[in-house]
Amino acid sequence: MKYKMLLDLFDEKSNGFLSGEEISNRLSISRAAVWKQINQLRELGYEFEAVSRKGYRLLYKPDEYEHKDLMQHINTAVFGSRLHILESTTSTQIEAIKLAEEGAEAGTLVISDMQTSGRGRLGRSWFSPAGKGIWMSLVLRPELPVRFMPQLTLLTGVAVCSAIRTVTGVEAGLKWPNDILIGGRKVCGILLEAATEDNKVRYCIAGIGIDVNLSEQDYPEELRSIATSLRMEAGTSVSRSKLIGAVMNELEARYLQYEKEGFAPILKEWEALSASIGKQVRSVALNQVIEGTAIGLSDSGGLMVLTEEGMNSTIFSGEVEI
Ligand code: BTN
Repeated sequence: MKYKMLLDLFDEKSNGFLSGEEISNRLSISRAAVWKQINQLRELGYEFEAVSRKGYRLLYKPDEYEHKDLMQHINTAVFGSRLHILESTTSTQIEAIKLAEEGAEAGTLVISDMQTSGRGRLGRSWFSPAGKGIWMSLVLRPELPVRFMPQLTLLTGVAVCSAIRTVTGVEAGLKWPNDILIGGRKVCGILLEAATEDNKVRYCIAGIGIDVNLSEQDYPEELRSIATSLRMEAGTSVSRSKLIGAVMNELEARYLQYEKEGFAPILKEWEALSASIGKQVRSVALNQVIEGTAIGLSDSGGLMVLTEEGMNSTIFSGEVEI
């Protein structure tokens, strides 16, 4: 690796400072080249403290994805059994769609260290810097009519939320339909995209983005008040491979349960993990405004709301504000 010699020097120093001069002498490169390498490492997710007259101190080193390590954490029959691990891509959704079109089996998982055009819901972009988040897309081939897709989205949310709680101990909650929040800030987004034929799902791609080890400085200004990371909430960094393993394990278990028992148990679990229920919500879809208290999920996965006029209404699509 290009930065191995520089990183070895920081390893030698354990937690201490290394001056630009010492690095430049030891590696026989100019001070400008040292600065350039430090900045390139920052782009890859490394964090350095820079103090004048002392030099640089390595504060955070991203955990790298290794096939063997991931496989140790994934204990499933199908989900995540075929891995495509990338350093960078436009979007893992695009990679997974390509693979699915080429016939990739259900359970194929694409993971990328960073995305250059991460996709969010409703045509938004998804911030996906290197080394610090989980950006992954899973190929599914459910034998389901298209109308059941919202249930699959909710099922994915339940599995990811439960995996986050198990691995970090942090009380993450679900915001309808598929955001995961901690203390009111978004830590994870889920995007299910389906290719359909005659009202049946040909394949579906479950895209999962989790802000794992980002620090506040990593976020652009406009996201700082609305997004958070597991590291910021748990106060310690979290292994991305371990969390991916937990997500795959929990997702496959819920999926099998859904095939056997239908949506009812998932609905119950969604409600138990919900950050929406009991809260005042407002949704605008197709020019219709629904405002009231969220009271639960309908059998098909819509959000049931009790309006101020005492009416029951169900939200099926669009954005919900809490
Ligand atoms: C949302 O808007 O909340 C959904 C965000 C989904 C982001 C994930 S990251 C992995 C996958 N690849 C993408 O481009 N998007 C999804």
